[in-house]
Amino acid sequence: MAGIEIVPTGAALGADVVGLDLREPLGPEVVAQVQEAFHTHAVLRFRGQQLNKAEQVAFSRYFGEPVPHPTNTRDRDPEQPEITIISNIEENGKAVGALGNAELTFHADLVFLHTPGSISLLYCVETPTTGGDTYWSSGYAAYEALDEATKRQIANLGVVYVHNNPAYNPPTPPIHPLVCTHPETGHKTLFLSPNAAQRITGLPADAGRALLDQLYYHATEERFVWRHHWQPGDLIMWDNRCTLHRRDGFPQDQRRLMWRTQLLGPCTQ
Ligand code: SIN
Repeated sequence: MAGIEIVPTGAALGADVVGLDLREPLGPEVVAQVQEAFHTHAVLRFRGQQLNKAEQVAFSRYFGEPVPHPTNTRDRDPEQPEITIISNIEENGKAVGALGNAELTFHADLVFLHTPGSISLLYCVETPTTGGDTYWSSGYAAYEALDEATKRQIANLGVVYVHNNPAYNPPTPPIHPLVCTHPETGHKTLFLSPNAAQRITGLPADAGRALLDQLYYHATEERFVWRHHWQPGDLIMWDNRCTLHRRDGFPQDQRRLMWRTQLLGPCTQ
């Protein structure tokens, strides 16, 4: 169909979509094919793109409505407020974007909101020669690999999420199910984002923390993870409802510049 090819990474998740120029409008059959691949592989990579910001926003719209980033409001381009700059670059002593050059540990996006991140799209403009790789782990594969007793133990548990910057938190913290049913695929997935997971409802604090640590360790085992080394022109879209991602740090004297778009939507119990 339309000459596009879906090439799985061979890891627990992720596939390349080959044969698309994302600057061009996509017909409904191609969009359906990309959506199906997305639901199967949870992370899609489109290499060799030459996007401007408006084209990235337009491509994101095939999957929902991209929103201006709810917490990162700095230096928003008034023409394209849906684009968030992820970068370590500084101009006149001021960061042009968010997240700097630091390593980021595994997380899903915006879990501290009642409606967390659903899909994120990251486009690489500039990349360092060393470091800055991004990794995704599969919540589906991690859930499937749990033993039956653990599946029963966690089936109806909820996790309270709180950002460490109080300014970002809603008046009451959200509680997201630890085991979600993905609203589009119907598959069960482990859903826990350790960066903001505060406690498990209904469990004593120590027992909840121990369970979160155990599940986090499990969910990020190498067998569930795919690693990506960026090239300029790569666009990657991922499903936060059934994946976690992390990033390697990189030298501050090298430039990394990415544009990101964000869609919101819950994973349900
Ligand atoms: C993120 O965690 O959203 C950023 C990932 C990256 O910079 O590779």
